[in-house]
Amino acid sequence: MKTDRKIRFGVIGCGLMGREFAAAAARWCQLAADIPTPEIIGVCDVKEEVASSFAANLPSAKYVTTDYRELLAAPDIDAIYCAVPHNLHEKLYIDIINAGKHLLGEKPFGIDRAANENILAAVAAHPEVTVRCSSEFPYYPACQELIRRIEEGQFGKIIEVRSSFCHSSDLDVNKPLNWKRMIEYNGEYGCMGDLGLHTQHIPFRMGWVPTDVYANLTKIVKVRPDGRGNTVPCLTWDNATLSCRVRDRDGDLFPMMIETKRICPGATNDWSIEVDGLSLSARFSTKDPNAFFYTEPFGREQAWCRVDIGSKPMIPTVTGSIFGFGFTDAILQMWATFICEVCSIPVKFGCIRPEETALSHRLQTAALISHKERRAVEL
Ligand SMILES: NC(=O)c1ccc[n+]([C@@H]2O[C@H](COP(=O)([O-])OP(=O)(O)OC[C@H]3O[C@@H](n4cnc5c(N)ncnc54)[C@H](O)[C@@H]3O)[C@@H](O)[C@H]2O)c1
Repeated sequence: MKTDRKIRFGVIGCGLMGREFAAAAARWCQLAADIPTPEIIGVCDVKEEVASSFAANLPSAKYVTTDYRELLAAPDIDAIYCAVPHNLHEKLYIDIINAGKHLLGEKPFGIDRAANENILAAVAAHPEVTVRCSSEFPYYPACQELIRRIEEGQFGKIIEVRSSFCHSSDLDVNKPLNWKRMIEYNGEYGCMGDLGLHTQHIPFRMGWVPTDVYANLTKIVKVRPDGRGNTVPCLTWDNATLSCRVRDRDGDLFPMMIETKRICPGATNDWSIEVDGLSLSARFSTKDPNAFFYTEPFGREQAWCRVDIGSKPMIPTVTGSIFGFGFTDAILQMWATFICEVCSIPVKFGCIRPEETALSHRLQTAALISHKERRAVEL
């Protein structure tokens, strides 16, 4: 018997990610676990037509507004999903937390380190609310397999870790500029602000916190059409390669490479992680989303093996385990995980915690200094 408990949500920002949440909430019956259902009763977007067309698909929407403060004042809203441009994170997240609403925010959780510190101060002042940051990729079952093996210590001494998130759409030099390519909305981090936390969620949770970073940041396409017939400067970093060092349990340092690229030929939202160890190496990539790759001894050599994990997610679903698993399934898992955390239901691998966003800001701020001064920067 499933619970009839509901968590009543307001969505602030009805763009790409706001729509993904509404879609996930609409197929809650796919979960075969006793987790309260999200009910979206509040909808806000500064663009009236965006808010109303979003709400048109949601019979439960009771508040539809262009002013997010109306949702914060609604006593029957328990939690907020806020997916707005980075320059608004600080103000909106702090207001949401101060209003006593649970929050799933989006990365980078503040446009810069100062904004992030202010958000974390609000989190500290409101221990009664659950605050997390979105990150869906670890919930692929094949990636959960990788995490399980790390937690069980199967890799032995770590040789190296590589984590990356790459896109290629900006290879098109005629792609118009949008807010994600403008420093005033996206921030100085550029591609790192957009993509970085995705690459860091698992390493940070595994305790792999860089001691220092040497960064190479590149601006490859320096001008873009503005969509109104003009060509304007595109000032955000396109690609970032961070060479970090991490201290293992023996006190030795191992390299951790973190790549976030907007211009990576052939990549379409490709997220991957590889862990190489003395006893085992393994990798997961969304390019082959059901596959788990790992090494087996082959005489004195190592064979890379591939196994199809199928649909065996962390939170059980009604989907047969031989069926495939994809992006929208990972989003559903992340949402179920967040609601478990709100309701104190134990989960094996939780959403990004506020203190992990602070680590990310330390790393990415150090990366900016490293690139500017051409030196490794300690964290
Ligand atoms: N988890 C992921 O995989 C993922 C993917 C893409 C983006 N994101 C993050 O999600 C956030 C939003 O990105 P997006 O791609 O959905 O952007 P988007 O541009 O598609 O949507 C943002 C929406 O916010 C609205 N908005 C702007 N100011 C507002 C305000 N003051 N009040 C209410 N609404 C406002 C805009 O009108 C727009 O509809 C960013 O932080 C981004 O980094 C996460």
